[in-house]
Amino acid sequence: MPAETRAEDSSALRSDTLLAEAVARLVAGELVAFPTETVYGLGADAGDPAAVARIFARKGRPLDHPVIVHVASASALAHWALEIPPPAALLVRAFWPGPLTLILRRAIGVSDAVTGGQDTVGVRCPAHPLAQALLRACEQAGIHGLAAPSANRFGHVSPTTADHVRTEFGPDLLILDGGPAEVGIESTIVDVSGPAPRILRPGMISEAQLTAVLGCPLASGADAARPRVSGSLAAHYAPRTPLELVPASDLAGRLSELRAAEARVVVLSHELRLAGDQSEVLWLPMPALPEDYARVLYARLREADAAERDLVLVEALPGDPSWDALRDRLERAAVGSGGP
Ligand code: TXA
Ligand code: MG
Repeated sequence: MPAETRAEDSSALRSDTLLAEAVARLVAGELVAFPTETVYGLGADAGDPAAVARIFARKGRPLDHPVIVHVASASALAHWALEIPPPAALLVRAFWPGPLTLILRRAIGVSDAVTGGQDTVGVRCPAHPLAQALLRACEQAGIHGLAAPSANRFGHVSPTTADHVRTEFGPDLLILDGGPAEVGIESTIVDVSGPAPRILRPGMISEAQLTAVLGCPLASGADAARPRVSGSLAAHYAPRTPLELVPASDLAGRLSELRAAEARVVVLSHELRLAGDQSEVLWLPMPALPEDYARVLYARLREADAAERDLVLVEALPGDPSWDALRDRLERAAVGSGGP
């Protein structure tokens, strides 16, 4: 047998063993980190309140924040949701598996540990093949869904690689490595538990895509009666270094001010470097298309933090709706940055 084939066989064996180990840990009520196409998740058996409680302890997350339940397919929905209203059925058919979370009325028996005590539950069916393999193996073992927030400490930047997760939680956590996340920011969350569907968190599935499928506009504006979303806290997704958003036209001016103040700066910009810039500024180039930008954003924010400069300047994003979700994350990062 050629050496190459043997290497493939042994890595397939290794990943089968890891998957079996992951399921065994989940059945035992332990935590396992796994890849999804959006960001990595910190998973526990969603049917085991004590296991879900471990997620909160490990993340340092407030207990009343609900977590998303990840399922292998729409057929697992009956375990979690009381009903599938017609708009939910349309969205499931169009976008699952994929980066869309639905908020539905919870089924009887879904624990408060998952829902944060609310009468709704968030459910998502991820498309990543390793997430799918894990969820299917879990089903075989009697676990019908994995509760999983993003695998980062509360308020930190979400992880898009296995290394990011290791940096957040250390070596004892089992992490299934599925490579860098393809989407790169968290799923779009749509609340379909009320009279009209409403976006609770923008994501790379856009409002235009949702309305095209639903055939009607989404409810807009804040609704105090609707469920809480921890991602809706103003300060979220934040790097430790202070972060400032600057319109492209003001970037040169702001940089020369900062240079005069001897501030050490990282710049995230579409430009590789402004003409005439001779300074010690660290330039991190950002892609021109929103899908590519989303794929690298969190890794760049981590890189910017690791540079340990005084300030991260980010070139403000275009006003076009295709940038909505990214503008949302950067605005929150600006508010939450500079923390411990
Ligand atoms: O892409 C994603 O959604 C990733 C991957 C791992 O699936 N997960 C993620 O989880 O971003 P997390 O916990 O970091 O954010 C989930 C959001 C939170 O803002 C939470 O409040 C909201 O979903 N959520 C979950 N269940 C909810 C519910 N019943 N009502 C309202 N919001 C809910
Ligand atoms: Mg999160």
